[in-house]
Amino acid sequence: MKEKEITVLANENIMNTYKRFPIVLVKGSGAKVWDIEGREYLDFVAGIAVCNLGHSHPAVVAAVKEQVEKLTHVSNLYYTEPQTMLAGLLVENSFADKVFFCNSGAEANEAAIKLARKYAHEKMGDDKFELITMKDSFHGRTMATITATGQEKFQFGFTPLLAGFSYVPFNDLKALEGAITPKTCGIMLEPIQGEGGVIIPDAQYLAQVREICDRHKILLILDEVQTGIGRTGKLFAYEYSGIKPDIMTLAKALGNGFPVGAMLATDKIAQAFTPGNHASTFGGNLLAMAASYATMKTILDENIMGNCLKTGDYFLSKLKQLQQKHKIIKEVRGRGMMLACSLNIEGADIVNECMQRGLLINCTGGKTLRFVPPLIITATDVDHAIEVIDQVMEGK
Ligand SMILES: Cc1ncc(COP(=O)(O)O)c(C=O)c1O
Repeated sequence: MKEKEITVLANENIMNTYKRFPIVLVKGSGAKVWDIEGREYLDFVAGIAVCNLGHSHPAVVAAVKEQVEKLTHVSNLYYTEPQTMLAGLLVENSFADKVFFCNSGAEANEAAIKLARKYAHEKMGDDKFELITMKDSFHGRTMATITATGQEKFQFGFTPLLAGFSYVPFNDLKALEGAITPKTCGIMLEPIQGEGGVIIPDAQYLAQVREICDRHKILLILDEVQTGIGRTGKLFAYEYSGIKPDIMTLAKALGNGFPVGAMLATDKIAQAFTPGNHASTFGGNLLAMAASYATMKTILDENIMGNCLKTGDYFLSKLKQLQQKHKIIKEVRGRGMMLACSLNIEGADIVNECMQRGLLINCTGGKTLRFVPPLIITATDVDHAIEVIDQVMEGK
């Protein structure tokens, strides 16, 4: 099929939930993708912080190929080696003692909300079920996770929402402390807000949130769906703060593009789940586990996070140079390879023009350009991207 045929047919048959760019992507390798007309793009979106090892990474491809030829799916009625191996790797490299596998970030957060409620129900009393989340947060699109998401635009038209959530401004400890009631069982937040515009809290914020949780004997749930798996230069962003959460959620980059989610917890909290409390047909699927294990091993063993920090710092410095030149850039910020430029104009035209010049970037919240490229990009890739953005911003 040709580009036009596909876009027309897709619009005819697929529900209208996404605003898509009019290109049809067919192939990827490393930080590059190609469309059906043969045009090449440098991909600084990476499936929105998903393909941390780049497209079609050989280790992930080999792992999935090997597994698909052996066994694809058996359900959680039985033990499998890939699921056991990945759980072991996640436990070994995090605060957690136990893992629950699912298929997406929203599902991982659903599992976290259910586990927090179940634990609270058993250990804190029936009337402790409320979670405090952050304004401008993003936790997913299911009913519980749009409720947890502190942005009305994602909730509009879907009321009534789930009971038991309240919201405070991110990075505001006074507001957080003030929002705790006798019904509060936990606080749920992203270490760096992603969809909210790559918002980095004060250096001590997470540690102080932990202290508040400890003092009130409530749970700390970290949503590392976007920040996890090396994106910020450490395996998990909480490692920067010197504290540990009680529950953490992962998805996006865990399978480097293979759909997978995980909810991790300490033993003490995890014991609130017993057989029958929670489940997923596809959770822990053999192919997802094989892809995720290969992804995790590569990230841990091949200095991917070293490159993320080094090239991420270089990228940040180059964006700061651009800020000196272009008045439309209000602020440049980020950590590792999770970077952003907030603009004083709408970002859509810039994203479109970059795409026309062979660079894929993303805009969140209308005026924030977000850069979440594969962690394997080189300084040459950064120079190329900066040159394109520079040209596009000229005269804006
Ligand atoms: C922090 C965070 N949590 C949860 C989600 C939802 O993940 P999914 O789209 O896999 O359900 C996202 C997606 O952007 C996210 O950034």
